[in-house]
Amino acid sequence: MIMLDKKSHWEKVYQDKSPLDVSWFQAKPELSLNLIHETGLPCDAPLIDVGGGASTLVDCLLAAHYTHLSVLDISARALAYAQKRLQQQADNVQWYAQAGRNNAVV
Ligand SMILES: C[S@@+](CC[C@H](N)C(=O)[O-])C[C@H]1O[C@@H](n2cnc3c(N)ncnc32)[C@H](O)[C@@H]1O
Repeated sequence: MIMLDKKSHWEKVYQDKSPLDVSWFQAKPELSLNLIHETGLPCDAPLIDVGGGASTLVDCLLAAHYTHLSVLDISARALAYAQKRLQQQADNVQWYAQAGRNNAVV
């Protein structure tokens, strides 16, 4: 049996597969976007996508003129993928790579 801590597990997921090929990939996360819009929060409200990974949610929120965005994930690789996709726009987002702990998941 292979034992991986959570961080190693998720880093391996993003190493082995393109974020475009994972089962949860959405080109446009409509439900999340609709729920955020329905809160009625102003576009300068601080929003954080916890476990955001390489999601396009942050791209869509930037396109909708939200200005105070953060993304947190345990996988630095996933965040790097999103940053590369966003190019210069990535500088307008706060990125947090969470440290892993020794919690076995396999
Ligand atoms: C199913 S994926 C969904 C990713 C993203 N929300 C999306 O819709 O594309 C789960 C995400 O949670 C992250 N994750 C898992 N455990 C975490 C933890 N303890 N802290 C932060 N992120 C975590 C993973 O790295 C992965 O990016």
